[in-house]
Amino acid sequence: MSIIYDEQSKQFHLTNGSLSYIIRILENGSIGQVYCGKALRIENPLPAPIPFKGFSNNDKSFARFEYPVYGSGDFRQPAFKLRFADGSVVAEPEYQEHRIYAGKKEVPGLPSTYTEKPSEAETLELELLDNVSGVKIVLYYTIFGEYNCIARHTAFVNPGDQTVFIENGMSLSLDLPDPHWNMITLTGAWAREFEVSDAPLRPGFQGIQSMRGISGAQTNPALILRRPATTEHHGEALGFSLLYSGNFTAAVEVDQWDITRVMIGINSDTFSWELKSTGVFHTPEAVLVFSDEGLNGLSQQFHGLYRSRLARGKWRDAERPVLLNNWEGTYFDFTEAKILEMAALSRELGVELFVLDDGWFGKRDDDHSSLGDWFPHKTKLPEGVTGLAKKVTALGIMFGLWIEPEMVNPDSDLFRAHPDWAVHTPERVRTEQRYQYVLDMGRPEVIDYLFKVLSDILKDAPISYIKWDMNRSITEPYSLSLSAEQQGEFFHRYVLGVYDLYARLTAAFPDLLFESCASGGARFDPGMLHYAPQGWLSDDTDGLERIHIQDGASLVYPISSISAHVSAVPNHQTARITPLSFRGMVAFFGVLGYELDPAKLKPEEQEAVKKQIAFYKAHRQTFQFGSFYRLVSPLRHSLSGRFAAWMTVSPDGSEAIVGVFKILSNPNQRPLTLKLTGLESAADYQVTIWETGGFAEADRHYNCGTRGGDELMNAGLMLECTDHHSPRKGDFFSELFLLKRK
Ligand code: DGJ
Repeated sequence: MSIIYDEQSKQFHLTNGSLSYIIRILENGSIGQVYCGKALRIENPLPAPIPFKGFSNNDKSFARFEYPVYGSGDFRQPAFKLRFADGSVVAEPEYQEHRIYAGKKEVPGLPSTYTEKPSEAETLELELLDNVSGVKIVLYYTIFGEYNCIARHTAFVNPGDQTVFIENGMSLSLDLPDPHWNMITLTGAWAREFEVSDAPLRPGFQGIQSMRGISGAQTNPALILRRPATTEHHGEALGFSLLYSGNFTAAVEVDQWDITRVMIGINSDTFSWELKSTGVFHTPEAVLVFSDEGLNGLSQQFHGLYRSRLARGKWRDAERPVLLNNWEGTYFDFTEAKILEMAALSRELGVELFVLDDGWFGKRDDDHSSLGDWFPHKTKLPEGVTGLAKKVTALGIMFGLWIEPEMVNPDSDLFRAHPDWAVHTPERVRTEQRYQYVLDMGRPEVIDYLFKVLSDILKDAPISYIKWDMNRSITEPYSLSLSAEQQGEFFHRYVLGVYDLYARLTAAFPDLLFESCASGGARFDPGMLHYAPQGWLSDDTDGLERIHIQDGASLVYPISSISAHVSAVPNHQTARITPLSFRGMVAFFGVLGYELDPAKLKPEEQEAVKKQIAFYKAHRQTFQFGSFYRLVSPLRHSLSGRFAAWMTVSPDGSEAIVGVFKILSNPNQRPLTLKLTGLESAADYQVTIWETGGFAEADRHYNCGTRGGDELMNAGLMLECTDHHSPRKGDFFSELFLLKRK
């Protein structure tokens, strides 16, 4: 991988042999975008793009800019906007100098991708200067050798003595030469996160945004462009993902000349930043991914980078424990004896970590009170968290705890002591949601308090895991700690405070496994992944719904980050009844957990759960860290909604597991051929089937036995039709094909 600067053409070529990204210094000192796509040879600098008959007579009429300005002839959405002391808003950044070096720097105070060795990546810092104000704009680009990814962010530096306001600062802006793309976004709502929206670009402005203080279940901070003909396995796609957990914009503008401008960054409608003299402001980092191997190719680049060079710490590469969470099993209604019974039974089933969810603190018997009072509930836990944790761990199972540190109930000792810590606009109504307010995480004293109170619990009790929840969006944004000019910083400072608390806790307790959560997947984003290597994807635990949610999330997020639980039926969110085997197999393609009362399982269900857990543990590397492929996405198949198939290949290639989900049965079925991928053509594989709790008799099935990798990838598996004689007739049939390389 390399970044080459050609002095003559003034062209920068970032390439890793698979991806090329080319920009050049234009005659007026601004930066033009030249090319982004499949790798080009470096010895032939691309010719300067033909000047465009646009708005003016100089380079301002160039059509494709790298970090476009506001107010001087480019009437599209700008990448940034500054407001100077005199109220003017026009800036003219010109190239000053650049630095190219091995490795990558952190983005101060924010999550970022990283290298373990400088040789893994190369970075370009491109420094632009607005001569009149003296403000410098530094564009950072890091290209990775192993992943088809470029990480970008921008720094604004104010060496002058006048304050400057940043009113918009995108992390990435990219002008592409044509509009022939479909835009994919991940949208949804509570309990139906990661719905995939996929539509052709049209002229004008289009995109998604969050203004709720968190990335949101409604919009995930990602945007994918695919060519209309691109499928899961073939064709070009570009992915854009923001390492940020707050208000964002991910948008595209197709202009009058069919140039496609992509932007991703902090949402400018809810942001401004007072950049004082000598101040520096860093935007969050954005990651750009290119694939010419379809959407799976794109996802695999994201997965690799995010699993290995965004997530951090002891748990990044460690096999994640199978957990049982008591939430859907008891909700708030539990005693210490009940928890110990559940933990003991969980242990018998093979569960490795017992998680105590909401309701263990203050006087919390429902969701009306006590958030903020992080002290044990005296009736439920007479010997405190420490006493319970010791008893649970004595059973031979790890103990984990739920917290929601960013919140406070009006009915809490914390609120009574510090009403000013709860976010509100003075003299305005304070909106309650789930009977709670949000703490002002932008205030250092709030972070200090939370760090102390949480550390006190964590240092005394044998706790191995924390589920960090966040159950409401932010209203009446305002901080009593900020001046009138700084109120535009409120939302970003909130996010910085959350990251600060995460950074302090992960540093103080490096052995802890953190799982992020926000009413399910309302803050499931790459920012969180930097601190918590796994996240609770959705409160919807229905097996069928989960296929859709996990499939959508897998476009960007690695399966090691997707916490997936088996819950009881009828499902608490949908009232649907699906077989335990189906629920289990869907949850296998993630970090497996259970969310039910094991005492309510029938003996045969307990046996089935034991077998599920044993199977999962035996293949955990493959499930959690394998290369994951969507063979058939549930909604992108001719049997729309009726069928899905996933596959994961172990990191060493020695085994692969294919999950087949026949969601809805129909009579007189068509036979289906399922072509596999990611195998070695020349290798042979022993194929067996694992279905409702055990291995099927191999010789009963024509797919089993020794099969060539070439055959499995080209002729494929022949999936049985469930005719009316078949014992498999019925909805929600699932099976796993286990492939062992011989
Ligand atoms: C929302 C989470 O998503 C659930 O899993 C559970 O922890 C509840 N909050 C508890 O209040």
